[in-house]
Amino acid sequence: MMAETVKFGIVGTGVGANFCANGLSMIRDSGVAELVAVTSRREERAKEFASKWKLKYWFTDHNEMIEKAPIDAVIVSIPHYMHHPISIDAMKAGKHVLVDKPMAISLKEADEMIEESKRRNVKLGVILQSRFDPTFRKVKSAVDEGRFGRMILGEAIVEWFRTQEYYDSSSWRGRWATEGGGALINQAIHTIDLLIWIMGSPKYLWAQIDTVAHKIEVEDIAVAAIRFENGALGVIQGSTATYPGLPTRLEIHGTKGTAIIEGEVLKRWSIMGEEEIIAEKSKEGLKSWARPELVPATNHASLIRDFAEAVRDDREPFVNGQEGRRSLEVIMAIYKSGRSREVVEFPLAD
Ligand SMILES: NC(=O)c1ccc[n+]([C@@H]2O[C@H](COP(=O)([O-])OP(=O)(O)OC[C@H]3O[C@@H](n4cnc5c(N)ncnc54)[C@H](OP(=O)(O)O)[C@@H]3O)[C@@H](O)[C@H]2O)c1
Repeated sequence: MMAETVKFGIVGTGVGANFCANGLSMIRDSGVAELVAVTSRREERAKEFASKWKLKYWFTDHNEMIEKAPIDAVIVSIPHYMHHPISIDAMKAGKHVLVDKPMAISLKEADEMIEESKRRNVKLGVILQSRFDPTFRKVKSAVDEGRFGRMILGEAIVEWFRTQEYYDSSSWRGRWATEGGGALINQAIHTIDLLIWIMGSPKYLWAQIDTVAHKIEVEDIAVAAIRFENGALGVIQGSTATYPGLPTRLEIHGTKGTAIIEGEVLKRWSIMGEEEIIAEKSKEGLKSWARPELVPATNHASLIRDFAEAVRDDREPFVNGQEGRRSLEVIMAIYKSGRSREVVEFPLAD
């Protein structure tokens, strides 16, 4: 029997929304998911987006889309502070919600969203698409199988560069109340999520945050030293102030070996007694650390497909609300430690 297609409406028409629309177009032939509607506050933008992605319906108010469009699920890809209220509106109307990263700007908001999805019996997913990248999955599986031995050190290094114009160009960026933070919550979150997905949850951390190269409220540089629950140590470095911007780096070290991933490229895979892999075929042209819009939407396509199948099969999506909350908790702990100069323990009290 052919299963029903899960129909999506999207709130947002920016970079994140275009990634999702592109990902959905890549899986359209599967019959699992289809994007049919969009909401933008501006009529012109809504029409333009609808025409670009061949959508039947466009709206200028998300509640109108939720009420009138024939949709099962809402994708929320707008400024961070609006993730919570719009996701709650959609869930209250019985729609499943797939929300972009960060799922919210506080743990209280994240918890309310998780609660609402349970109360309404709808799925809640978070767009942390790197968890679907084959390279990171390969490392995760090898760690879980113990091939690197006992984990001893994990490092997430995101040394990117954003200009002052980037922050000035949209009023929601660079402010605690609207972006919820800076380099960590917006740029480094994917790599932080991969670090804790692979290494496990932190037990405690100590961090420093600062604003060194932009006129913004939020941090443009941060470092954290972590002790994981499994006893391993960890380091997080995140910045939007490090010119010219370098490839993201994830390093995983166990007692029997190391994996290093730069950008999405496996640079080093060394396990005692096995043949070493040094630098997989280069994907240098991608330069995701400098031009995110050049990154293909393949991982978005995989994540949306998983979410649609979760809706169809009534199971949890791979990156559900609880999983999406984990990187937010780490980032909030770094902000707390950075402000107080004290060690912060997990679970974090909000
Ligand atoms: N998963 C990923 O890899 C990825 C990549 C990029 C971005 N993102 C996420 O996508 C989300 C949106 O970011 P973006 O980079 O797409 O931002 P953006 O390009 O500035 O777009 C923001 C969108 O939000 C809408 N919007 C609604 N209310 C707004 C308000 N009060 N102020 C400003 N814009 C408002 C804007 O459309 P109208 O003004 O027409 O309503 C626009 O469509 C964020 O959560 C971001 O972290 C995720």
